[in-house]
Amino acid sequence: MTGIYAAVSNKGGAGKTTLVTLLAGEYALRGERVLLIDADNRQNLTGWWRLCSEKHNVPDNIVVTSAATQRSIEQAVDVVGRAFDRVIIDAAGVDSALQTTIIRMANLVISPIQPAIKELEAAGQAVAAVTEINEQFGLSVDHLNVRTRISVPGRNLEAYRYIRPFIAGMVAAHYRTRLLDTELFERNIYREIQNGLGTLQMQDLTDPIRKARTEVRSLADEIEEHRASPVLFGAA
Ligand SMILES: Nc1ncnc2c1ncn2[C@@H]1O[C@H](COP(=O)(O)OP(=O)(O)OP(=O)(O)O)[C@@H](O)[C@H]1O
Ligand SMILES: [Mg+2]
Repeated sequence: MTGIYAAVSNKGGAGKTTLVTLLAGEYALRGERVLLIDADNRQNLTGWWRLCSEKHNVPDNIVVTSAATQRSIEQAVDVVGRAFDRVIIDAAGVDSALQTTIIRMANLVISPIQPAIKELEAAGQAVAAVTEINEQFGLSVDHLNVRTRISVPGRNLEAYRYIRPFIAGMVAAHYRTRLLDTELFERNIYREIQNGLGTLQMQDLTDPIRKARTEVRSLADEIEEHRASPVLFGAA
């Protein structure tokens, strides 16, 4: 079955589009054909794709399409997505009417969380939305949280330390979610690839790139391990 993932958080700038491009590059490197659906009308993902094209950095195995309506999202996943091994949907950073469609079409929703209370609240809302949609449509969409833009000093922030107990609290309340162990650090290269450099995995293997790639590989591994044997109601 095609893995259909969606990056969802109502917090603008949470790190959704960055997460989508990092994972896409990793799956493409593994030989998968990846379809990215830009469901954000601000078109950041499409903008990245256009810049990649202008700079002759279009990644192999990745195609980006934009879908701004419920129908076009359904069609992109159901019709176009069939030809791909993996589909990743990039949602808007606001609570749009499309969110229900995006979650309903996915089998896994991932919410990036930066160490800030607003980010946690947005992840909590995403978990609640996934739960509601599962109940409403009789689905079993999974939800994962990934910490991003983490730094060593940032780990001392109260908001950072609050992430794990916050997710554990949601799990205790029987929400179907989990916190991944892998964290995405704050890295210049994660910002720079948005300027049309292609994917992280296309960059020359300097030391910083190697570290970033190890991190993203570990994230994809953890996601796939979870998919293979979901730890439900476990905060990890
Ligand atoms: N781990 C990271 N390290 C460094 N910069 C990051 C990281 N994650 C995200 N950013 C930067 O933070 C900004 C917001 O990230 P991004 O665009 O991925 O968020 P988003 O959730 O898609 O935002 P929006 O809600 O506006 O679509 C961007 O400038 C991006 O380059
Ligand atoms: Mg975005």
